[in-house]
Amino acid sequence: MKKATVFIFCLVLSLTCSLSNLLAEDQKPALPLGLDPDGLIIPEDNPVTEEKIELGKMLYFDARLSKDGTVSCATCHDPHKGFSDQAPVSTGINGQKGDRSAPSVINSAFNYFQFWDGRAPSLEEQAKGPVENPIEMGNTHEGAVDNIRAIEGYKPYFKAAFGDEEVTIDRIAKAIATYERTVLSGNSAWDRYVYLNDETAMSESAKRGLELFEGKAKCTRCHVGFNLSDSLFHNLGVGMNKENPDLGRFKVTGEEKDKGAFKTPILRDLLKTAPYMHDGSVATLAEVVELYDKGGEANEWLDVKMEPLNLSDQEKADLVAFMESLEGDWEPVDAPALPQ
Ligand code: HEC
Ligand code: HEC
Repeated sequence: MKKATVFIFCLVLSLTCSLSNLLAEDQKPALPLGLDPDGLIIPEDNPVTEEKIELGKMLYFDARLSKDGTVSCATCHDPHKGFSDQAPVSTGINGQKGDRSAPSVINSAFNYFQFWDGRAPSLEEQAKGPVENPIEMGNTHEGAVDNIRAIEGYKPYFKAAFGDEEVTIDRIAKAIATYERTVLSGNSAWDRYVYLNDETAMSESAKRGLELFEGKAKCTRCHVGFNLSDSLFHNLGVGMNKENPDLGRFKVTGEEKDKGAFKTPILRDLLKTAPYMHDGSVATLAEVVELYDKGGEANEWLDVKMEPLNLSDQEKADLVAFMESLEGDWEPVDAPALPQ
């Protein structure tokens, strides 16, 4: 090739590349006020498309992924219950109870790690877990794929989303993860106060609560950023007094320092997702504040960032009022019609 041809070739190539980058940017779901688009994690091999969102939403609500056709993702992450289940621990197939509380799926697209112990690196990996968890959906990946493959009505949706009708567990996971990336919450009173300087958005009590959250109560030692989480793992002592305590992050890393440490949860839409903590052991936000006020539950591995706060009753109420200002303005969706 002549130099000039090579030059033009490169120019066209780089233009095409930057154009496709722009498109990739555009394909990010539109974000509500307060959420940072740069924080949204979208794997390169699973771009967001309308077709994949549609398929993923159906699969999210489809109990036929489970062994006996009774449990879907939405059973435990119900849009009408803040994409959680409002129970201390979840109930899977045959009424079996797990030992951890279902976190909300809201804004999980921003999580560096999924699960309370961070054992899944992505929403794609996460979605495969419950399908074959014996006490959640109780199926095998092959079983779930066979069930979905047998449903004629799904074929055009897989074709639209992935180019052909093939059903694989990876495609199921990719579609569900893509739908989850649209489950977003923002534009809360706090967002409007901070980003729109809307002085009327938050009550005076909530404003004092925000000041405490960032100051005397030291909550921002761990709950930072637009989702109020540092995405790290800490031991607050919750559940550590049980005979066989859940050792949390330790189960993943095997490191002594991680014993009893759990992922700092996102603090949005808390009013819809009680009870709180990894084991659902704390019923109300007022009780959460009491736990922090006494510096957590003493145990060998308590995080050094935890210390008694000596908050007054008014300060405790203000902190609760602040947390109540973190409710997003989204409307719960209903299950779509499922393919037959
Ligand atoms: C039987 C109830 C149940 C079902 C069914 C279920 N989940 Fe969960 N989910 C949970 C529980 C409990 C956890 C926390 C488990 C842990 O941390 O070990 C969780 C964790 C998650 C998380 C991690 C969120 C975070 O902040 O770390 C996501 C995302 C999620 N589930 C999505 C799904 C999807 C998608 C499906 C369907 C394929 C599904 N779940 C099915 C109960 C359930
Ligand atoms: C040392 C880090 C750290 C500090 C400081 C901290 N948190 Fe947390 N927070 C966490 C972790 C980790 C969890 C989950 C712990 C568990 O489940 O065992 C959590 C859980 C919560 C929950 C429950 C959320 C849910 O969905 O279950 C609320 C509410 C909360 N924190 C509010 C606060 C407030 C208010 C403050 C300040 C008074 C604060 N946190 C200070 C790390 C921290």
